[in-house]
Amino acid sequence: MYYYIRTFGCQMNQHDSQFAAALLEKSGYEPTANLDEADIVLVNTCSVRESAEKKIFGFIDSLILRKRIKPSLRVVIIGCMVSAEEAVDNLLKKRKHIDIVLGTRSIHRLPHYLELLESESGPFVEIDLDHEVVEGRIHKREDFYRAFLTIMYGCDNFCSYCIVPYVRGRETSRSMNDILAEARSLVADGVKEITLLGQNVNSYGKGLSEEENFANLLLAMEKIDGLERIRYMTSHPKDFSEEIIDAIASSSKICRHFHLPFQAGSDRILKAMNRHYNREKYRDLILNIKNHFPDAVLTTDIIVGFPGESEEDFCETLSLLKELEFDLAYTFLYSPRRGTPAAESDSQVPQSVKKERLLRLMDVQNGISLKKNKAMVGKTYMLLGEGPSRTDPKVQSGRTDGNKLVHFEAKEDYTGKLVPVTVTSANTWSMRGQLLK
Ligand code: SAH
Ligand code: SF4
Ligand code: F3S
Repeated sequence: MYYYIRTFGCQMNQHDSQFAAALLEKSGYEPTANLDEADIVLVNTCSVRESAEKKIFGFIDSLILRKRIKPSLRVVIIGCMVSAEEAVDNLLKKRKHIDIVLGTRSIHRLPHYLELLESESGPFVEIDLDHEVVEGRIHKREDFYRAFLTIMYGCDNFCSYCIVPYVRGRETSRSMNDILAEARSLVADGVKEITLLGQNVNSYGKGLSEEENFANLLLAMEKIDGLERIRYMTSHPKDFSEEIIDAIASSSKICRHFHLPFQAGSDRILKAMNRHYNREKYRDLILNIKNHFPDAVLTTDIIVGFPGESEEDFCETLSLLKELEFDLAYTFLYSPRRGTPAAESDSQVPQSVKKERLLRLMDVQNGISLKKNKAMVGKTYMLLGEGPSRTDPKVQSGRTDGNKLVHFEAKEDYTGKLVPVTVTSANTWSMRGQLLK
């Protein structure tokens, strides 16, 4: 019996899919990359923007025909799109081919419902966002040398545009002991790089003892022998404290990559977004980081066309982007999400204006990204090897501490190994390099 998983959305979802995969394999299923062969199709959904949702509905609906041809096919929908009752009702109304629906905190119930399906017909739905955190999750890793490690679930920030707090529930931190035990067992299993996951990792520790905070967690992770690199996702600028900066400065394993979404450059818009920082505070934070870590790689997220965003507001985003010179910016068109405060606003920005602003933003950023990458030419970096390219086995790739992708030619396989490479040329998205002999 084969399972096929399609994952949409962020690293949280990728990690949840690794959990679902491990559960399915424990129940005796084998993975397949061929949809035609699958006995179970599991779709892990994302609702952060409408464009993502449209694609997901398209994929789910394409399974109707498959089930007609193969009535024994099980269709399982999990993730953020199915974490509110109304959304689930809408989904199921027209789609009789779905067997199991599990919210983001109910994935551990998958084996139970698969077993129930043997004797009863579905659909079975469980979307309990208040469910307590499940410890002892198992994951099927894609790479032997790197792993995700969830340190907290949910989000309490309620940025006014964002659906995440409604679909992932309240912020719940795992105990530091549980996290460190999992980290040690991953390292014993060959993991060299761990990415700590949470919607707002900087506020880790809410509801736990005073010592259990993000800075102390980083310091404790640093002490794990055999672990080479520590990453974390995502940081909220309002909670990125001096203690965290000090912890990173004292560390040799925490990567000098800072992903700090600023979303908008205008104070008026930041306030309407409920972000709890202003332009000046954000600017000071970035300058402070640049001061501490001159070689830091900086990335950010930006939303264009938030309700009420004027041309003037947008120009403030543009000028902050130009001034701070990020290595990379993930830019999004504002997408109204039902149930969020911003979606109710009657000053929505027309789609054509949003698109035009996005293009201007991307144009500026692409120039900066290229300039930043070109500045790396001639320098040598330690890469963590990610293995040979699918199209050309002579070419391998790896990532710098700053998470930049470099391709290089090599005969030996450097997957999961640290290797020095000198950058020889650069374009906007990646670089070429030469192995240092
Ligand atoms: N917790 C993380 C990630 C949230 S989702 C954080 O706070 O950074 C990732 C990004 O999607 C956000 O940073 C934001 O830029 C974007 N995003 C979230 N909701 C959106 C919406 N309704 N429309 C457009 N972009 C959105
Ligand atoms: Fe969404 Fe804001 Fe929470 Fe990030 S911090 S997940 S943008 S509500
Ligand atoms: Fe999407 Fe859920 Fe992540 S809405 S971005 S998969 S937290």
